[in-house]
Amino acid sequence: MSGLSEFPTLASSLVRLRQLGYKDIPVITRLVTGGVVRYLMNVPYPYEMLDAKRFIDKSRRNFKTKKELNFAIEFVSTWTLVGIISLHKIDQISNSGQISYWLGQNYWNMGIATESIRLVIQYAFNVLRLHKIYANVFDSNKASVRVLEKNHLRKEGELIDSVFKQNRYHNILLYYRLNYK
Ligand SMILES: CC(C)(COP(=O)(O)OP(=O)(O)OC[C@H]1O[C@@H](n2cnc3c(N)ncnc32)[C@H](O)[C@@H]1OP(=O)(O)O)[C@@H](O)C(=O)NCCC(=O)NCCS
Repeated sequence: MSGLSEFPTLASSLVRLRQLGYKDIPVITRLVTGGVVRYLMNVPYPYEMLDAKRFIDKSRRNFKTKKELNFAIEFVSTWTLVGIISLHKIDQISNSGQISYWLGQNYWNMGIATESIRLVIQYAFNVLRLHKIYANVFDSNKASVRVLEKNHLRKEGELIDSVFKQNRYHNILLYYRLNYK
């Protein structure tokens, strides 16, 4: 990540991924519903304006130290923020990073996550030169597994009863992809 001074913008005909700003706080707060949070490991619910502000502040700090890039996902046909995708836990010794993402429920099943993940992986491999990207998913989250597999991530393992959420333990599937370039 040496030389990364400006926050990148990544774009295709479907989505634009850009830096988050305080103006996004009300939209993020509206989009983070119970139906979204049930699949996320570390996001509180109810999700308040202050949670969004803290997330944006943390994003700025961790971008400066090159530990993470948290992108607003904008849907090109409306130019509105519809979700967030993160490349985080960037390890500059092992050259690895984790991807995480969510979309507001009204925007599911339109190909937006698949395309956003594709852009972030392309950036992580071709520009940041990371060697490995990975993602952790609840085993019940079939849509998330599907978007990872569509982006050629493979299952690496499974952590049994590793997260307690909504009154039960969940198995976590580990997915990864290596940069062979
Ligand atoms: C997971 C999530 C990001 C997917 O985003 P999305 O933009 O709807 O994904 P896409 O439209 O690109 O692709 C969804 C794929 O999953 C499939 N899918 C959706 N629901 C499914 C289900 N219940 N079972 C199996 N496949 C399913 C779709 O058919 C599609 O596959 P296809 O293109 O082969 O038809 C979105 O559902 C979400 O934000 N969920 C809540 C938060 C979350 O789970 N984040 C990930 C944590 S690891």
